[in-house]
Amino acid sequence: MIKDKIWLSSPHMGGTERNYVTEAFDTNWVAPLGPNVTGFEKDLEVYQRENTHVAALSSGTAAIHLALIQAGVGPGDEVICQSFTFCGTTNPVQYLGATPILVDSEYDTWNMCPNALKEAVEDRIAKGKKPKAILAVHLYGMPYKIDEIHAFAKAKQIPVIEDSAEALGSTYKGRKCGTFGDYGILSFNGNKIITTSGGGAMVCHSKAVKEKTIFLATQARDNAPHYQHSEVGYNYRLSNISAGIGRGQMEVLDKHIDLRRKMNHFYQDIFEHIDGVTVQKEKANHIFSNHWLSAILVDPAKTGGITRENLRLALEADHIESRPLWKPMHLQPLCKDFPYYGSNVCETLFENGLCLPSGSNLTDQDRNRIKKSILKVF
Ligand SMILES: Cc1ncc(COP(=O)(O)O)c(C=O)c1O
Repeated sequence: MIKDKIWLSSPHMGGTERNYVTEAFDTNWVAPLGPNVTGFEKDLEVYQRENTHVAALSSGTAAIHLALIQAGVGPGDEVICQSFTFCGTTNPVQYLGATPILVDSEYDTWNMCPNALKEAVEDRIAKGKKPKAILAVHLYGMPYKIDEIHAFAKAKQIPVIEDSAEALGSTYKGRKCGTFGDYGILSFNGNKIITTSGGGAMVCHSKAVKEKTIFLATQARDNAPHYQHSEVGYNYRLSNISAGIGRGQMEVLDKHIDLRRKMNHFYQDIFEHIDGVTVQKEKANHIFSNHWLSAILVDPAKTGGITRENLRLALEADHIESRPLWKPMHLQPLCKDFPYYGSNVCETLFENGLCLPSGSNLTDQDRNRIKKSILKVF
């Protein structure tokens, strides 16, 4: 008998999502905007605190695109990007005809290395072009070194776009990720800690930026009774149906973070006694990760030759999904010609790292299957 597949991270509904969606149908707010959109934005503003303003959008990628536009990025410009990320971070830089300048990670958080960032920015300035923005990422929900990176960005007067697509609910010194940058980005894609089926948001610090974001996301319509346009716009707004799912999901967000963090401890317990395998965890008290995905590093020199790929294939044979850590963008054919600063930290992470099933909806039975499958390999 084929067992049910255990997924890396699948949608987990709390139950009330359906009520918001039904209400949208009952009141005929099926058309793009409506009370769920404004309600979801309000929920996010209350959750993020720090007097944030939130604009709900069709994806995290769209949010990054609109942040880059507002940071003034255009053709021929350069944008510093963490190389160790998903393509949704860097693609919008290319949409604008700008060049991603890719920067390595450090081992504490696996995110942008402050030293490599400094080297990159200073070298680009020396070569005659000051980067227009810095795109830093809280990968897998782990906060990056915010103090170091933002202090440097401030000194150089370069805006920071904080890609918090994977880090809703993570905190740094008690403050929510997504609220530190000039622009913060969230994703509600199907595999994220909460989902709207597909969606994203821009988190900003002024009503003016929120309004400009909404203007750009609704085809940049000028104020006129007819359709009047003076600049290029996009169709990037979240629908009232999707936002209804988001409102229900906000009610269970903190509970789901707790469950994801328990998955991380589950793996820490398993691997505590296995030489050569380490589970990614917070390295400082002021960091709190939502542990969107739990990830491990496998050192074949210490595991008797067992690699992350051996483990991945063994899990796959047992119908358990896992995935290598994200392949750094500077190793992608799409980005191979872009400048890269740093050494081989994110390459090493990619070669030896594996993301394990991390969903908040996994059961004790699922955990038993995962544990058995892992212990068979080691
Ligand atoms: C780090 C990161 N940035 C950006 C994105 C793009 O978000 P979306 O899929 O909502 O466009 C994602 C996820 O999908 C992501 O993981």
